[in-house]
Amino acid sequence: MRKKIVAGNWKMNLDYAEGISLFSEIVNMVRDEQKGEQLAVICAPFIHLNSLSKLGGTTVRIGAQNCHQNESGAFTGEISAKMIKSVGCEYVIIGHSERRQYFAESDELLAAKTSAALKNNLIPIFCIGETLDERNNGSYFDVIKTQLTGGVFGLSAEDFSKVVLAYEPVWAIGTGLTATSEQAQEVHAYIRKEIAAKYGEELAEKTTILYGGSCNPKNAAELFAQKDIDGGLIGGASLKSRDFVDIVKTFNS
Ligand code: PGA
Repeated sequence: MRKKIVAGNWKMNLDYAEGISLFSEIVNMVRDEQKGEQLAVICAPFIHLNSLSKLGGTTVRIGAQNCHQNESGAFTGEISAKMIKSVGCEYVIIGHSERRQYFAESDELLAAKTSAALKNNLIPIFCIGETLDERNNGSYFDVIKTQLTGGVFGLSAEDFSKVVLAYEPVWAIGTGLTATSEQAQEVHAYIRKEIAAKYGEELAEKTTILYGGSCNPKNAAELFAQKDIDGGLIGGASLKSRDFVDIVKTFNS
């Protein structure tokens, strides 16, 4: 059985008090309502991480949204994977399309960040996905293959086995336009096939692949019922405790 994960991505939202308040609600609701082995994760801005990891315990796990590729040094304003780990985080999102687009993060840089995360025992949630143009001109499989090859296929099988992937079509992020479950499943199956070609069937079958992009409590059940979709990376809906926890509960058994 693959690990099922519902991870919230708060992005650059919520001041400190707002973050503590929302997170406390989420922890209480998950504690009371979750039935099953799925993992609930919140990826918060850096300033929240230390407090949230203490509040979340093993009920809700904590992740960062980015890390620097170096361990320490003269990189004003940056935060390293080692620092993130030191406050009790377990996850870090790497290569979100907003980082690729607004901060010009290349596949090569993202490979270095992924290695830094793994070296510090953080689980990378590595994001891939095509733009609307790439969807429309039919090049999306090639785009995804290039992102996988440049970002994570340089890893040893042992390191790759620790990575969580997230397929997030850029055209579906924050737009209310969700990929249909067929569109998402098609790409997830393709990703798994590429993993099998690179690392073998066994590892491919064990890899958790999340879907992200306008996922909400209404569409989560149909998306997560697809054979190759193992959970979600949730943006907007993770800012509402009821919505986020309802998505987590999609996996209640
Ligand atoms: P969204 O964002 O759920 O608001 O579309 C998803 C993401 O960017 O991870």
